Amino acid sequence: MKYHIEEMIAKSEIANKVRLLADNINKDLNNEDVLLIGLLRGSVMFLADIAREINNVSEIDFMSVSSYGSGMVTSGEIKILKDLDVNIEGKNVIIIEDIIDTGFTLSKVTKILKERNPKSLRICTLLDKPERRVTDVFVDYVGFIIPDEFVVGYGIDYAQKHRALSYIGKVVKDGEDNE
Ligand code: PRP
Ligand code: MN
Ligand code: MG
Repeated sequence: MKYHIEEMIAKSEIANKVRLLADNINKDLNNEDVLLIGLLRGSVMFLADIAREINNVSEIDFMSVSSYGSGMVTSGEIKILKDLDVNIEGKNVIIIEDIIDTGFTLSKVTKILKERNPKSLRICTLLDKPERRVTDVFVDYVGFIIPDEFVVGYGIDYAQKHRALSYIGKVVKDGEDNE
């Protein structure tokens, strides 16, 4: 497919939003320690930036999950490719995600992590595409609600590309047909 990328959310808008989200998180945490969990790989840019704005980040860890099966339809099941290294029991935990689409990833990860008895478990996502939601997920902190467009950049990929863009762009297909 031939395509180009159009800027949708500028670098400065992302930076402002990161500070705003962190301010809200800091108010809610009230100076308690917090463990941040990033879901590889899309969340890395957002996690790196917001971690530096959140007070009392005691630990940072990562998890990697993938949808079961292949093809275009998500099965709703996930498998853990890399689990956390740290124990979350009794800790304040915030999952940092780049985007919520169908909601499968976060609903499953939340379920898995709740069973480990954290003191609190919250979700912070930079982007939310509510039109695509298949399964309910309660999200505590949302940066931007976006329409059902294919987006890339600031960690988010299209076929593993464009993760290092400093802005969020929209993938625009060139021409009418011919994939
Ligand atoms: C993307 C994105 C979210 C997830 C959202 O990750 O980063 O983690 O999909 O989709 P969902 O709400 O429908 O579950 P992906 O599986 O593409 O892996 P990546 O982060 O390595 O790109
Ligand atoms: Mn991801
Ligand atoms: Mg991806």
